[in-house]
Amino acid sequence: MRTPQLVISLLSLSLLFLFHSSRAATLDPRCSAADHGSNLRVFHVNSPCSPLRPATGLSWAESVLRMQAEDQARLQFLSILADGKKSSVPIASGRQIIQSPTYIVRVQIGTPAQTMLMAVDTSNDAAWVPCTGCVGCPSSTVFDPAKSSSFKTVGCQAAQCQQVPNPTCGGSACSFNMSYGGSTIAANLSQDLFTLAADPIPNYTFGCIQKATGSSVPPQGLLGLGRGPLSLVSQAQSLYKSTFSYCLPSFKSLNFSGSLRLGPVGQPIRIKFTPLLKNPRRSSLYYVNLVGIRVGSKVVDIPPAALAFNPTTGAGTIFDSGTVFTRLVAPAYVAVRDEFRKRMKNAPVTSLGGFDTCYSVPIVAPTITFMFSGMNVTLPQDNILIHSTAGSITCLAMAAAPDNVNSVLSVIASMQQQNHRILFDVPNSRVGVARETCS
Ligand SMILES: *[C@@H]1O[C@H](CO)[C@@H](O)[C@H](O)[C@H]1NC(C)=O
Ligand SMILES: *[C@@H]1O[C@H](CO)[C@@H](O)[C@H](O)[C@H]1NC(C)=O
Ligand SMILES: *[C@@H]1O[C@H](CO)[C@@H](O)[C@H](O)[C@H]1NC(C)=O
Ligand SMILES: *[C@@H]1O[C@H](CO)[C@@H](O)[C@H](O)[C@H]1NC(C)=O
Ligand SMILES: *[C@@H]1O[C@H](CO)[C@@H](O)[C@H](O)[C@H]1NC(C)=O
Repeated sequence: MRTPQLVISLLSLSLLFLFHSSRAATLDPRCSAADHGSNLRVFHVNSPCSPLRPATGLSWAESVLRMQAEDQARLQFLSILADGKKSSVPIASGRQIIQSPTYIVRVQIGTPAQTMLMAVDTSNDAAWVPCTGCVGCPSSTVFDPAKSSSFKTVGCQAAQCQQVPNPTCGGSACSFNMSYGGSTIAANLSQDLFTLAADPIPNYTFGCIQKATGSSVPPQGLLGLGRGPLSLVSQAQSLYKSTFSYCLPSFKSLNFSGSLRLGPVGQPIRIKFTPLLKNPRRSSLYYVNLVGIRVGSKVVDIPPAALAFNPTTGAGTIFDSGTVFTRLVAPAYVAVRDEFRKRMKNAPVTSLGGFDTCYSVPIVAPTITFMFSGMNVTLPQDNILIHSTAGSITCLAMAAAPDNVNSVLSVIASMQQQNHRILFDVPNSRVGVARETCS
């Protein structure tokens, strides 16, 4: 067995210096540039603009392996079907925050504004931030409700109080607990002014975290962009018409040009669309219809049933901003991988963590095309391969869905979305994809 340490020692660590040196230096001036209109800059959580990047200065290989391990936990959450009780939409269940979100934006909360970093997450509805006095929250940056004149708690009688897990009434205010693994958080359901770029959204409902135990609570807040009733898409429906797009920069990029564009204004016109599908049992998720996959010019052999959308079992394909590496249901992954290896003229294959198709010789990869209903998206090498910095190892940056979960869901993840604009157009029930360089 190859141990992670051995794997790391096989890889060049030169990116380490990028992360390290920028950490020591003063914040890059580009980091403080303002957001404009309805556009927010999007940062990778490990970027030099992010105070949340790991303090220990993870090497490239370590961060890749860690991201992949966290993907595993996220897939578990994404693969769980709701129990069918439509009235109960958890603001954030334990499983929903076990993942480590990857891309962050700045959000101003309260009056006067306090700047918080929040992870954007298309598969969650929740919004929450750590609050003053929080016992056990890992972040030193917390939101202080006492300093905001527009802050208020949500009463027990409010409809939103029925949508959170384990609601309790402390006096008249609604609070709730969530547990996950060995960890728990306790939060007060609250409302305050959220300002996204230049747009004020009064009375935004979110969880103000008072107490956290265990080590899995991510330090930043979470901004859910899912489709459910407590998400940004629903709460700001009149402003943004359930329409937004983003371009995610490469996680290696030191540029800060990723963006989250909210609302129908300024969205790309030259863009290809595929229909958006709705699963009432997973109301947050953005399902699409993946019908086939091409490696180079060859459509690989995948039984159509393996890719079919099925609301009852949860089967199908989603776009997700929080998973890093695309996961395909096993029959699809195996078909893609086998064809990919064949194109490499059967050069010797090694593995790295959960990646099973890696090469220690230079390779030229074929394109991979996701064939959705009405839309083919052809990915260039940058979206397909992950390279160690010295080029000593290169892996196909996808994997099969983990087999310890209900493995019927394929997830188009952030690495495969980087440098594309992904447009979520809920009123017209469609998802658009266009190339856009934003690294
Ligand atoms: C949050 O809830 C706790 C327990 O109900 C309460 O003691 C605390 O004052 C609340 N905090 C705020 C900011 O409302
Ligand atoms: C929530 O957590 C608080 C403090 O940890 C505890 O006193 C309370 O009993 C919990 N409530 C529920 C419903 O679990
Ligand atoms: C926000 O809540 C306050 C107090 O409940 C209310 O007076 C105000 O009208 C609300 N604002 C909007 C825009 O709904
Ligand atoms: C940053 O942007 C510049 C110009 O826009 C480009 O030349 C450079 O390659 C980018 N850097 C990275 C790491 O992507
Ligand atoms: C996608 O590619 C397949 C196979 O090459 C082709 O048959 C199909 O017409 C294409 N679909 C679109 C919408 O371009």
